[in-house]
Amino acid sequence: MLNIIICGAPGSGKGTQSKMIVNKYNLKHLSTGHILRQEISKQTELGKIAHSYISHGNLVPDDMIIEILVNTIKDGTVGFNGIILDGFPRTVVQAEALEKIMESRNETTTVLLDLRVEKEELISRLMKRGETSGRSDDNLETIKKRLDIYEEKTAPVNDFYKKINKYTPVDGTGTVEEIFARLSAAIDARVSQLNTQNIPA
Ligand code: AP5
Ligand code: MG
Repeated sequence: MLNIIICGAPGSGKGTQSKMIVNKYNLKHLSTGHILRQEISKQTELGKIAHSYISHGNLVPDDMIIEILVNTIKDGTVGFNGIILDGFPRTVVQAEALEKIMESRNETTTVLLDLRVEKEELISRLMKRGETSGRSDDNLETIKKRLDIYEEKTAPVNDFYKKINKYTPVDGTGTVEEIFARLSAAIDARVSQLNTQNIPA
């Protein structure tokens, strides 16, 4: 299976690129942010709790997020070549939980692709999106908070994957197509590396 993590700061292009990657590689798209926003619009209990964190730029608690992941994976990946995790894991606790879930399924994460974009560019992309997105977290104050939380809580996830040799940084600037070509090349290189070592992807 091809189990890809797409990571990067808010606005780095995770959602945009995931949509293209799932089509090319026939993967199931799992975006925790998207699932949470659906819960908010349906005004479920989970949605109400999630909104109180998201609208302030904070992370939703690990146990809630891990439960969402477990339920979504349980719903199945039949017919897909694997999954792409967009916006998960966002803390080291989530990364450890993910690796355990994979192990229990006799699978592994294939690679973590880290979209690298400068802070000024991130702010400018998110402010532009905020003009039309209707997202409660797309305003300057909350964007800055999200970027701080990213540095504090999510950047250490990269170190976790560096230690297990699954970390690949990718330049997240340029056109959407250029970035997609870089990501595709990184995925193909990883798969061929695993094939050479005779490790199932
Ligand atoms: P989430 O929905 O994951 O949001 P995020 O990480 O803040 O990132 P975004 O979705 O804003 O950006 P993106 O990287 O997907 O970029 P996009 O492609 O949209 O999470 C939201 C919240 O939910 C979190 O803050 C947290 O509260 C909670 N949450 C979610 N997961 C959680 C977890 N695991 N644990 C705890 N809490 C969790 O692009 C951004 C914009 O830039 C778009 O307008 C796009 O059109 C544009 N753009 C894309 N590529 C380019 C390009 N190459 N050039 C110019 N513009 C571009
Ligand atoms: Mg997104």
